[in-house]
Amino acid sequence: FKNGKQGDMFVQKSPAATVSVLAQALLELYDSKSTIQEIGIRHGEKKYETLVTSEEMVKATDLGGYYSIADMDQPPKILMICLGNICRSPMAEGVMRHLATSEGLSVKLDSCGTSGWHEGEKADSRAIQNLKEHGIDINDLRSRGIRHSDFDEFDYLFCMDTSNFEDVTNLAKSYAPEQTHKIKLFMDATHPGQKKIVPDPYYGGDDSFEKVYQLVSDACEKIIEDLKKG
Ligand code: 4NP
Repeated sequence: FKNGKQGDMFVQKSPAATVSVLAQALLELYDSKSTIQEIGIRHGEKKYETLVTSEEMVKATDLGGYYSIADMDQPPKILMICLGNICRSPMAEGVMRHLATSEGLSVKLDSCGTSGWHEGEKADSRAIQNLKEHGIDINDLRSRGIRHSDFDEFDYLFCMDTSNFEDVTNLAKSYAPEQTHKIKLFMDATHPGQKKIVPDPYYGGDDSFEKVYQLVSDACEKIIEDLKKG
């Protein structure tokens, strides 16, 4: 929406969903002509196409019949980020995928590293083993470095520690300054403003992977709760 609650509605494409029918549906939903200036469709992040203006909406009276409009948000797109993308962020991706599935929440998920040092590799065997013990399989995940397109493609870029956060923020400042608001410190979900991090377990023992699992699970549960609230 333009001049409305931008992005809060997903309009399904269907033969019945003509412009005037959409206009009527929206007028009924919002019960106020004055708050809607214009109805349009967003194509991805960038292109906005105007379908109908407020004047045309007022004219849209003789409607009736079936219309297809869903109060349905697009699934949130979440990118988990650490340094190597073989320990913390694939664990966060796996845990989030597991919890979202069991909660019936639709999300688009991926993870990456600020470094790209392990491009194409599977997650660290200790990360795979730890999650296996918790009933989660991340054998399918492969490491990749962060891409400039990630800033446009994802809604939330969750950084595992403050150094990842700074690196990602600096990249965004150069390549997508308008998207910096999407960059979050992951542990802010449960500890807002405290700069709490998920410590790097790479040089640690098995207990450091279990610690990652505990932190990541708590944060993912809170993120899911927040997403459900909208
Ligand atoms: P991650 O852990 O950032 O949680 O994937 C690391 C993995 C590899 C390295 C450092 C941290 N490394 O130096 O190769």
